[in-house]
Amino acid sequence: MSPDGPDGVTEPDEADADAEATGPDAEAPADVEATGPVAPAGAEATEPTRSGLGAERASAACFGVSTLAALALAAVYWEGGQVQAEGVLLAIALGGIGAGIVLWAKHFMPDDEVTEDRPPMPSTKEDVEAFTEAFEAGESSLRSRRVLVAMGGGACAALGVALLFPIRSLGPRPGSGLKRTPYAGGGKRVVREDGSPVRPTDVSPGGFITVWPEGHTDDADSPTLLIRLRDGQELELSDGRESWVVDDVIAYSKLCTHVGCPVGLYQQELGLLLCPCHQSTFDVLDGAKPVFGPAARSLPQLPLAVDDQGYIVATGDFSDPVGPGFWDRGR
Ligand code: FES
Repeated sequence: MSPDGPDGVTEPDEADADAEATGPDAEAPADVEATGPVAPAGAEATEPTRSGLGAERASAACFGVSTLAALALAAVYWEGGQVQAEGVLLAIALGGIGAGIVLWAKHFMPDDEVTEDRPPMPSTKEDVEAFTEAFEAGESSLRSRRVLVAMGGGACAALGVALLFPIRSLGPRPGSGLKRTPYAGGGKRVVREDGSPVRPTDVSPGGFITVWPEGHTDDADSPTLLIRLRDGQELELSDGRESWVVDDVIAYSKLCTHVGCPVGLYQQELGLLLCPCHQSTFDVLDGAKPVFGPAARSLPQLPLAVDDQGYIVATGDFSDPVGPGFWDRGR
């Protein structure tokens, strides 16, 4: 191999190695090949070769492309996001850093294996210093190590910034919004899905319909069951709720207090509401308390009244937060 071969390795010829080596191999048997990173002590860093320069530029280009892709990823996300584009840009950003590191390691880090059959031979301080110098010089000198380090660091930093952006997707803090529904404040009519108001007599005895607060038929936390009792059914209402029922019509949240499924099955003879998900059963005649299944809380009740036109209105919000109550601690 020539002293300045295509891969940038400078090798002393064997005769010279035997005569002049002063590094870690100085006392090695004559048949040991001294190649690769174990350079003679005092070895000068080699001049960059053409292939080394090409690899350096390619590595820097990879880091540059990665930086641009990461910044573009952040911009796309900031503008509202586009899943496919984000995936491609993330792949380019990560791939650019990976390719840059591979090129760097392949061309500027020594990778020869040196084996030797010999007893332990601890290195002297001079040997260690010589090895360190040769190792840091590498196979081919970096013309602009600082630029390459800066480019690589910039690519990683840009990607790090882009990866922080999904925090924005967590959205605003819910605050007390989970504890209120559009019924809060009272005075809202209850309406069917088509927006039509409801009179007590629109619900047949033993039947039920699903209603929402007027103007909020799309609200996920507002579905409400309006249930009309059968003749002869007696309610056991807790104190203060005696006036929450109008003409034998009582209202409960439709969201199961277990994990939020819609409670949609009603056994009118027994006055029991069933949740189809895990069979929680609520006693309509006794404040919708759970009598079977995993639900631990009653269905929240809605206070009702009738306005001057005979339509049912809610006089306030539900008695408790609707749905699963894990956020309700301390209320
Ligand atoms: S969600 Fe209703 S019982 Fe589980």
